[in-house]
Amino acid sequence: MTKPTIVSNLFLSLTLFLTTWVRSLSSTNTTTTHEILRGFSATPDPSNPSSFQPLLTDPTSTFSLGFLRVKSSELALSIIHVPSSDPVWLAQIIPNSARWSESTRLLFNGSLVLSDPHSGVFWSTGTNGGDGLRLLNNSNLQIVDSVAVTVLWQSFDFPSDTLVESQNFTSAMALRNGPYSMRVGRDFLALYADFKGDSNPLYWRHKAMEAKAQVEDGLGPVYARVDSDGFLGMYQTEAAPVDVMAFASFHRGVAGLRRLRLEPDGNLRGYFWNSTIWVTEFEAIQDWCELPSACGPYGLCSAGNGCTCLDNKTEFSGSGGCSRAESGDFCSGGEEGFWVLRRAGVELPYKELVGFEKMGSLEECEGDCMRNCSCWGVVFSNVSGFCYRIGYPVQTLVAFGDGTKVGVFKVRKRGEKEGKWEVGFGGVVGLVVVGMGVLGGLIGLGVWWWKKRMIKEGKVEFVEGVGLAPGPYRDLKESLRSESSRSLELCKR
Ligand SMILES: *[C@@H]1O[C@H](CO)[C@@H](O)[C@H](O)[C@H]1NC(C)=O
Ligand SMILES: *[C@@H]1O[C@H](CO)[C@@H](O)[C@H](O)[C@H]1NC(C)=O
Ligand SMILES: *[C@@H]1O[C@H](CO)[C@@H](O)[C@H](O)[C@H]1NC(C)=O
Ligand SMILES: *[C@@H]1O[C@H](CO)[C@@H](O)[C@H](O)[C@H]1NC(C)=O
Ligand SMILES: *[C@@H]1O[C@H](CO)[C@@H](O)[C@H](O)[C@H]1NC(C)=O
Ligand SMILES: *[C@@H]1O[C@H](CO)[C@@H](O)[C@H](O)[C@H]1NC(C)=O
Ligand SMILES: *[C@@H]1O[C@H](CO)[C@@H](O)[C@H](O)[C@H]1NC(C)=O
Ligand SMILES: *[C@@H]1O[C@H](CO)[C@@H](O)[C@H](O)[C@H]1NC(C)=O
Repeated sequence: MTKPTIVSNLFLSLTLFLTTWVRSLSSTNTTTTHEILRGFSATPDPSNPSSFQPLLTDPTSTFSLGFLRVKSSELALSIIHVPSSDPVWLAQIIPNSARWSESTRLLFNGSLVLSDPHSGVFWSTGTNGGDGLRLLNNSNLQIVDSVAVTVLWQSFDFPSDTLVESQNFTSAMALRNGPYSMRVGRDFLALYADFKGDSNPLYWRHKAMEAKAQVEDGLGPVYARVDSDGFLGMYQTEAAPVDVMAFASFHRGVAGLRRLRLEPDGNLRGYFWNSTIWVTEFEAIQDWCELPSACGPYGLCSAGNGCTCLDNKTEFSGSGGCSRAESGDFCSGGEEGFWVLRRAGVELPYKELVGFEKMGSLEECEGDCMRNCSCWGVVFSNVSGFCYRIGYPVQTLVAFGDGTKVGVFKVRKRGEKEGKWEVGFGGVVGLVVVGMGVLGGLIGLGVWWWKKRMIKEGKVEFVEGVGLAPGPYRDLKESLRSESSRSLELCKR
């Protein structure tokens, strides 16, 4: 081969490589797709280092449905607001299940399905007969039946932590973020916390003012909606709102997109997009200490001082707080038990929403809790005689000037229970492995011995390469074979 041919060959392969590369690049212009049809399938690109892989965009290119990278190797199916890259919707897939790997697949076969051949289906819209998937300019993802012109499923009906402008929030829905959730009741909106105890505290409630319309039984359930005029409205019919919760930009003609988000700290905030940033224009809980767990479990929040710990011994740490998050109650099995922590000068956040009982003394209030295994603590006011019971693992208390309010809290004893369990579990696993090895060995030995005896007694003969030659004991051969294969299986394990 002469030099020019090598060069031209090189050049040829380079151009070939480049054209296929460019072609493969342009084939990723499925990213600008405005409609997904039945038969569509996509997998996350493992070589793609970016945190979002778009699959479908709305006509204005403001929103995009795609794979969102979580914790570097996990995957979420999300709709993001493209200019800010903030998710406005997440599919409720099984937590920590979907991986950012080639085996994860999103397909549309009438139903939108996220699955993996090993683990099965992580999430599905469970629809039938859908033939198109489209993303509207308000971020609503819809599965449509184009023949009957009906919407079979829409993401607006399954919100995650965000409501966008024009999205109806009904009594069948909930916004969720960690332990927090928002729901609409008969004539109110409320935020709840689930601290994995026996009761779920309600920590914020807004009752409809009913200025323009009354809530009437028989008119159907109340629903809420963020309005482009800068308010969160509650409605029973479209005619007039039963409540208007005004944002800072109310009636000011601010045109940016609005959204309402249940935040990781349990607050509810409203924002508008000013074409550069999300500007906060509403906050349900303005006093930070009034959040349900501002400083985490067994924390103490004070307006001037920030976070400290209920016991004066533990140093509050930004990452770890004061204590590990607890769950459950003290009702099952008494072996762990608790010790009692007392602290004067504390009160519950959102105490107006917490039920109480009037009692004569701290002793009475406390004794009631000590006898009740689903009670985690009490706060007693010396002045009013109100006894507040905490029916969930203790969270953050609020520092309260004078010492007339006293808290008594149960703290779970940290026995070696968990450590023991870990050692125990390891031991059990070890024993099982050793036991299986011994059993496999014994079976193998038994088979060998039996085989030897059979051959010796002339009942079967052993032929090289074939194993046991057909003899009068055909069923014996079968039993031998199954026996040895069983021991092989055991050894493999
Ligand atoms: C990619 O873009 C080209 C040119 O804009 C277009 O002709 C082609 O149909 C697009 N492909 C896909 C899969 O959208
Ligand atoms: C779509 O695919 C999923 C997962 O493979 C399957 O369970 C489901 O039955 C399919 N649905 C239709 C309508 O074919
Ligand atoms: C969104 O689409 C609707 C019709 O579907 C249209 O009336 C509206 O003007 C659009 N909004 C924007 C911001 O494009
Ligand atoms: C919200 O509910 C109202 C009243 O039922 C309805 O007219 C409107 O179309 C709904 N909006 C969306 C986006 O579903
Ligand atoms: C949005 O807000 C930021 C910060 O306040 C400001 O710098 C920016 O100019 C605003 N953008 C518009 C379009 O008003
Ligand atoms: C904790 O420290 C504060 C301030 O130093 C003190 O007033 C309070 O009595 C202490 N409480 C306990 C339970 O030790
Ligand atoms: C025990 O405490 C829980 C949680 O505060 C409460 O719901 C329950 O009614 C109490 N039971 C009794 C018998 O007082
Ligand atoms: C509660 O009230 C009693 C009697 O009024 C008083 O002796 C006691 O010191 C008070 N306790 C606190 C913590 O203020």
